[in-house]
Amino acid sequence: MKPIQLFLIIAASAISTTGAISLHKRQDGGDPRVLSLGLQRSRIQDPVAHDRNRLRRRSGSIDVDIDNEQTLYFFNASLGTPKQSFRLHLDTGSSDLWVNTLDSELCSAASNACAETGTYDANSSSTYEYVGSYFNISYADGSGAAGDYVTDTFRVGSTKIANLQFGVGYESTSDQGVLGIGYNANEVQDDVVGKSTYNNLPAKMAADGLIASNAYSLWLNDLDSDTGTILFGGVDRAQYEGDLVSVPVEKNGGVYSDFFITLTGLSLGSTSLGDDLALAVLLDTGSSLTYLPDSITETIFEEVDAEYQESEGIAYVSCSLASESGNLTFKFSDPAEIVVPISELVIDILQVTGRRPSFNDGSDACMFGIAPASGTNVLGDTFLRSAFVVFDLANNEISLAQSNFNVTKTDIVEITSGGNSVPSATAAENPVSAESGIASGVETEAGSGAAVVSPSSSGMVWVGVVTLVLVFVGSLA
Ligand SMILES: *[C@@H]1O[C@H](CO)[C@@H](O)[C@H](O)[C@H]1NC(C)=O
Ligand SMILES: *[C@@H]1O[C@H](CO)[C@@H](O)[C@H](O)[C@H]1NC(C)=O
Ligand SMILES: *[C@@H]1O[C@H](CO)[C@@H](O)[C@H](O)[C@H]1NC(C)=O
Ligand SMILES: *[C@@H]1O[C@H](CO)[C@@H](O)[C@H](O)[C@H]1NC(C)=O
Ligand SMILES: *[C@@H]1O[C@H](CO)[C@@H](O)[C@H](O)[C@H]1NC(C)=O
Repeated sequence: MKPIQLFLIIAASAISTTGAISLHKRQDGGDPRVLSLGLQRSRIQDPVAHDRNRLRRRSGSIDVDIDNEQTLYFFNASLGTPKQSFRLHLDTGSSDLWVNTLDSELCSAASNACAETGTYDANSSSTYEYVGSYFNISYADGSGAAGDYVTDTFRVGSTKIANLQFGVGYESTSDQGVLGIGYNANEVQDDVVGKSTYNNLPAKMAADGLIASNAYSLWLNDLDSDTGTILFGGVDRAQYEGDLVSVPVEKNGGVYSDFFITLTGLSLGSTSLGDDLALAVLLDTGSSLTYLPDSITETIFEEVDAEYQESEGIAYVSCSLASESGNLTFKFSDPAEIVVPISELVIDILQVTGRRPSFNDGSDACMFGIAPASGTNVLGDTFLRSAFVVFDLANNEISLAQSNFNVTKTDIVEITSGGNSVPSATAAENPVSAESGIASGVETEAGSGAAVVSPSSSGMVWVGVVTLVLVFVGSLA
């Protein structure tokens, strides 16, 4: 399905990888410069679920006739002086922070749609500064938010960041404030508007010296847990098992704009689903599910006896699969490998009635954590929970290790800048370049040098307000 692309360009550039991340205790014995944030996984009712079109479509083929519940990772932060509180959705698949205002049609409606996530009032903040009126982030179907870019003080925990740029949605069709923490090149300002980039949150933390390098690590813990951690500037060595292995990020359209890495193999127990893959896959916390090529997904569905509902683009499995011991093993450039227990792919959901869906024979049906991509391949939360992942934007590398579920102790080290030898992370020796699944080559239009793919055309730059959806299907009920 995917066209063969100009991967030679990518191959050439991917070879010049830098050293892996450096992890160090502070030389002066001081505390590491890191910021640890607790993440909360919440199931939320979607107050605007009647507007089905706002669901992000990963491809034209996913026909959403469902839903009003999603599971996403959130954390609390504030903007402005005095503080205005927000619950922000953490998204590695986009790069802008944006929040709603009370004045938008959506938020000012009687339903009070934005009350829980928070709204921003520029005139009530003494530290607000106007930047420009060209903020406009879009879903694949054209919904999203538009308004001003501004700067203001951002606070999270005891950390204060002055003059952080973000978008304010004076027009909005999404009630969720989002904190995109991807590459600057994926910002609306650069990618869509064509102006130069600004430092988004992780880049600004590095520029301000709050962390030593633009890098953070993510530990979502297992499916049964409602909390996880993002650690800006550091790695918690207690949160993973075995070694951290670093693989290069793949350029997208000639620039580092998204967290694409190369999937080289996949197996389910002893059954290989692909040995010699060179497939670009996007690491995206904003996606509740994992999306793999249709042919691979089909084989997995057969192996686990999943029933695919084409109208929703989602498959269901017997809930009893959760107690089976099999594994789905994702291989990346050797020796990077993540084992996802099958139990992590069996998602318990409830219908609007409060009951589990069931198959015709009366047995309980659970949502399956993998769906056909029919487009961009995404390793979403059903993959990410099994992994400990370091997003090293400074060195364009991703480091992966097997997550240590439910760990309570910590062993935090700082990620320093530069490419020193790394006791805790080993670079894959022969990194494999992606040959499909990504826009390759360089931009042909004159000008910005920005990514070829824009949020509205790719459908994956903007965050997933999609995803874990509550299903209410006649055929299952
Ligand atoms: C975020 O704030 C809400 C509302 O104040 C609170 O209920 C919730 O526990 C907070 N979450 C975290 C992770 O601090
Ligand atoms: C701030 O208040 C002034 C005066 O009421 C108004 O004209 C302006 O549009 C407001 N600005 C914003 C960003 O809300
Ligand atoms: C934002 O972009 C969308 C899609 O490109 C466009 O339809 C919409 O009119 C824009 N909104 C504003 C306020 O510029
Ligand atoms: C982690 O803790 C949760 C309870 O909070 C439990 O349900 C789950 O089985 C534990 N996971 C592992 C791998 O021990
Ligand atoms: C699944 O992987 C885990 C961890 O690597 C291993 O301990 C377990 O034996 C595997 N289960 C099966 C059925 O292969």
